[in-house]
This record gives sequence, structure tokens and C-alpha cells, in this order.
Amino acid sequence: SNYFYLTGLTEPEQSLVLYKDELGNTYEKLFIPESNPEMEKWIGSKISLEDASKISGIEDIVYNSLKIDYLEDLTSTVDPIIGIDKTQPVHARDLNDYPLFNEEKLIDLSPFLEKSRFIKDKEEIEQIQKAIELTDQGINELLKNLKPGLKEYQLAALFEYSVKNNGGDGLSFPTIAAAGENGTILHYTKNNKEIKDNELVLFDLGAKFNGYCADVSRTFPVTGKFTPIQEKFYNVVLKTQKELIKNYKSGTKLSEIQQLTKDLFIQNLENEGIPIPENGIEDWYYHNVGHSLGLNTHDSQNRNIILEDGMIITCEPGLYAQEYNIGIRIEDDILINGDNPINLTENIPKEIEDITGNKRRLN
Ligand code: GLY
Ligand code: MN
Ligand code: MN
Repeated sequence: SNYFYLTGLTEPEQSLVLYKDELGNTYEKLFIPESNPEMEKWIGSKISLEDASKISGIEDIVYNSLKIDYLEDLTSTVDPIIGIDKTQPVHARDLNDYPLFNEEKLIDLSPFLEKSRFIKDKEEIEQIQKAIELTDQGINELLKNLKPGLKEYQLAALFEYSVKNNGGDGLSFPTIAAAGENGTILHYTKNNKEIKDNELVLFDLGAKFNGYCADVSRTFPVTGKFTPIQEKFYNVVLKTQKELIKNYKSGTKLSEIQQLTKDLFIQNLENEGIPIPENGIEDWYYHNVGHSLGLNTHDSQNRNIILEDGMIITCEPGLYAQEYNIGIRIEDDILINGDNPINLTENIPKEIEDITGNKRRLN
């Protein structure tokens, strides 16, 4: 992802060298493998120097055969500080080819890249919006086709078909389609249960477009009708989630929103007359409220996020009450924008009137 972020290129065995000299002048140079007519018969042709330049915007591009000489040259005249992406073990391995590199002096560039990947520019937001559109279309197919008797995997397959049929790269992560009690398992991916009357189905899914991910959760009643207790729980999660989104303001700590999630759950459960579990709300809510979204579904593992303009952070509170066979999560993708968060997934239905009743299904 980091390499793609810097170059827009996806083929293997390429390297990007960014170099800053003592005067502060900066250079960028890209090394790519040469196409080989024998290999082309097996795997097609490699990207050309011209195309690599067009995609990456980098002018200085040469073949890999020149790489060792170039790097030895660079390191023989100065005593450089060398940074690599340490999240990629292959980079460190490659460096073993260069005896001049001193392992102890290597610095890790990945924290810098992570930091800049947090803030999305206009083009990145557009790619994520496209991924969200594809996700929306797929969820629409699910709503149209949802009925008792189907297997969870049939719904997952329907979503994946829709994404690929509409031009998506594929999925951001393996689809979760969890019916009834399975909705209370956070990372349920077996997807092999038959869906029964009166069950809720929790979907957590996302399309990928041009490398960028969408990540959305919705919970639907299979027949288009909630039982009274399901509706109460759904209202609690929905109300909480809508209130949380309003708090996705620049300058707010995500940890504060995490605490607010618990407080709102307690308050809203009380309002619906549902007793809080004896051991506390953590029995029913035990994950984080959100994460940065981008080239990866979890674009960063950093939990100490302070929201900033241009970040895209999920808002995904959920309640998982095994004793009621109820698992509900509602997840939207929020673009931070001063005090006015923009919900990029707001068209994907979550209001009760949009996910219940006959209007919901066409068949
Ligand atoms: N689908 C993984 C997540 O929501 O974080
Ligand atoms: Mn998700
Ligand atoms: Mn998520």
C-alpha cells in the first residue's frame, strides 16, 4: 500500500528511491524490471518505462539492472541516512545486496507514510466515494434478495458479484453476513448458516476501487419486519450512531468518542427499558468505535487518533447481546471537515422505514 501510495504502480519488483542531498535538493528515481520476451508468453508484458512514468509522474525511470551501481555510487560519496519501509520485510532483505548499508543506521519510513496517509487528498476521497457507490449498489442487491431460507454465503456471493460486475477491484475484506446469533460474533466469516424467519442479518462489507476501500456495516431484519425487542435494540444502536457522527469534529480524540459510545449506549438502552448487563456495557460492546480508512480497511493501527480535516474515519458502534440472539452494528465512513462531518455513506439505508416493509424488497 505504501508503494502504491507513492507511485500509483502495482507491479512487483520495482523500487522507488527518494534522495535528498546535502544542499536539500531532492531527487526521485524509479527502478522497474525489463520485459523479457520468454516470460511475456507466461505472464504478459511488464509495464513500459513510458507507462510507468505516465502513471507515477516520475520522470527518471530506468531498468533494475542499473540499480546496484546507482545505489553503490550514491552511498560511496556520502555517508547517508537510509530509510526504508520496515513494514515490508522484503525491503530489508533486498538491502543485504548492498554491503555499504549499515543495518543499525536504517530508519523506518513507515510512520511518516502512515501520517501522510491519514489525510486524504481530493483524488483519494473520490476513489473512496467510488468504492462506496459500489458498496451501496451491492447492499441494494442484498436488500432486494434477502429472504429466509437463503444461506449466508449466498448473500456474501451476491454482494461480491455485484461489486465485480460493476467494475470494482474486489472486496476490501472478506464479507461478513451473519444471521441471528452469528451476528454476535465480531469477526464471523463462516457464512454457512441458513437464515431463519425473524432473524437479523448483520452485514459488514466493502468494495475496493482503484486500491481504495469502503467499509460499511448494516443490520437488516430478514423478513422486512423487526420483532419488538429487535426494534428496540436497533433504535438504540441507530440513535447512538447518529449522535456519535455529530461528534466527528476536527480536534476531537477518537478515545473520547469511544467513551461517549458507552455512555450513549447506557442512556439509550435505559430509555428503551432494556436492562444493562450486570457486568457493564462492555459485555455487549467490546470493540473500537472507528479506524482510519484508505488503501487498507484499517489504514493505521494507531489508536490515539485526534481527528483532523481530511481524515476518513469509520463510525461503527454495535451491540452484541447473545442472551437475545441479537447482534447489531451500523457502520458509516466519515470525512472529517471542521465541525461539520461529512457522512460519505449516508445514502446507504439504515433508517427503520428504509429497511423494513414491502417497499424494501422488489421480489
Ligand atoms: N470490517 C472491519 C471493520 O469494520 O473494522
Ligand atoms: Mn466494517
Ligand atoms: Mn470498520
